[in-house]
Amino acid sequence: MLFGALQQDPLQYFTDMTQQYGDVWGMRIGNFRSFFINHPDLIEDVLVNKARLYHKGRILQANKYLFGEGLLTAEGDFWLRQRRLAQPAFHRERIAAYAATMADYTEQMLAKWCGGEERDVHQEMMNLALRIVGKTLFDADVTHEAREVGETLDMLLKIASNFGRTVLLPLWVPTPQNLRAKAGVRRIEKIIYRIIAERRKSGQDTGDLLSTLLQVRDEDGTRMNDRQLRDETITLFLAGHETTASTLSWTWWLLAQNPAVEKRFHEELHCVLGGRAPTMDDLPKLTYLGLVLTESLRLYPPAWGMARLAEEEHEILGYPVRPGYGVAMAQWVVHRDARWFDAPLEFRPERWENGLAKRLPRFAYFPFGGGPRQCIGNTFALMEASVVLATIGQKFRLSVLPGQEVRPMASITMRPRNGIRVRLEAL
Ligand code: HEM
Repeated sequence: MLFGALQQDPLQYFTDMTQQYGDVWGMRIGNFRSFFINHPDLIEDVLVNKARLYHKGRILQANKYLFGEGLLTAEGDFWLRQRRLAQPAFHRERIAAYAATMADYTEQMLAKWCGGEERDVHQEMMNLALRIVGKTLFDADVTHEAREVGETLDMLLKIASNFGRTVLLPLWVPTPQNLRAKAGVRRIEKIIYRIIAERRKSGQDTGDLLSTLLQVRDEDGTRMNDRQLRDETITLFLAGHETTASTLSWTWWLLAQNPAVEKRFHEELHCVLGGRAPTMDDLPKLTYLGLVLTESLRLYPPAWGMARLAEEEHEILGYPVRPGYGVAMAQWVVHRDARWFDAPLEFRPERWENGLAKRLPRFAYFPFGGGPRQCIGNTFALMEASVVLATIGQKFRLSVLPGQEVRPMASITMRPRNGIRVRLEAL
């Protein structure tokens, strides 16, 4: 097994291996056996039809020190209960109210931008998305912590996605990396506990997710303790900001590479909004923007791969899967498969016109996963990405500075390795 190749560039590794071995192949790290599946029907089987035979994969499980028993990592009845509790906070009507905050925070960022300036657009999107999650879900201003959270996260995600560490070197082994990871978690926890304490003290119902979580009671009347609140809060903070920020960064990058698409994108904003801040009601009218986002999530899915651990014995295409075996799949590979997408490496938002999504197998395109564990924040993320793109796109065009190598880095999520330096052109 080419363990080094997997560590170094998992995107390339999974692409090459799939090209060589097809829709199902096996791999082994130490004594951990795993299948990689690449056909949409097999993926549907694992995520939907046989979902109850699986738990989350080893990388997420090995990162419970960070996510605890939050929605992303919890299992079974406990997960189901938490999911039901959190779900109302993500309903369309509820998040529609967040559009104004999203536009407002974007405007605040733009107030600091000047035409002709150079900036790292990924850094900007990360700070913005963090502030938006903080405000909309927890009614907390994390402006001052944005930098610290960003840097800590950077480090944690690098460590979190290290296949070698998760399989061979569990967290209790006091390696320098593990010690750094623990210190990082403590820094993030401090911020989270501050937010929880402030809210308990004020006792206010601010109508956000944290209010809901603080109010709910079990059948026996007990409320969520600080540890549970910490787990859910950290999970939503982390799941909700990196992913959306990366979607935005990759979209700016793709727009800048494709002048015809970029032109149509700006023209639509001008026609539909005419300089106004976008609201939730405007989004269905911004049809081209919707296609741009769909296509961006195809080529650069921030959740680039997913994994499960088998709990019960069964088969995949006749191969025996035993308890403890892993099953992995990668949006990165499926979304670039020429069986489903013509000229798969080209950025063509137009391909989604005329109902392509309906003609594809269900799991040929799954940026938000699927089945019971599908992303709870997908509507939130798409709304946020649309509002931010529309607000910025009415005022600025972003051109990518020459002489930099923009490359994806695949950790738990996939983002631009060294950021993306752009020049701002005021419109
Ligand atoms: C473009 C942005 C996003 C992408 C691509 C994305 C992708 C995903 C994917 C693929 C999963 C499934 C993981 C699995 O089954 O193993 C997932 C789960 C999840 N996501 Fe997202 N996500 C995004 C934004 C968000 C946002 C904004 C939030 C919250 C504010 C969020 C919260 C969650 C949570 C809590 C889960 C776990 C759900 C569960 O298992 O019940 N995500 N996300």
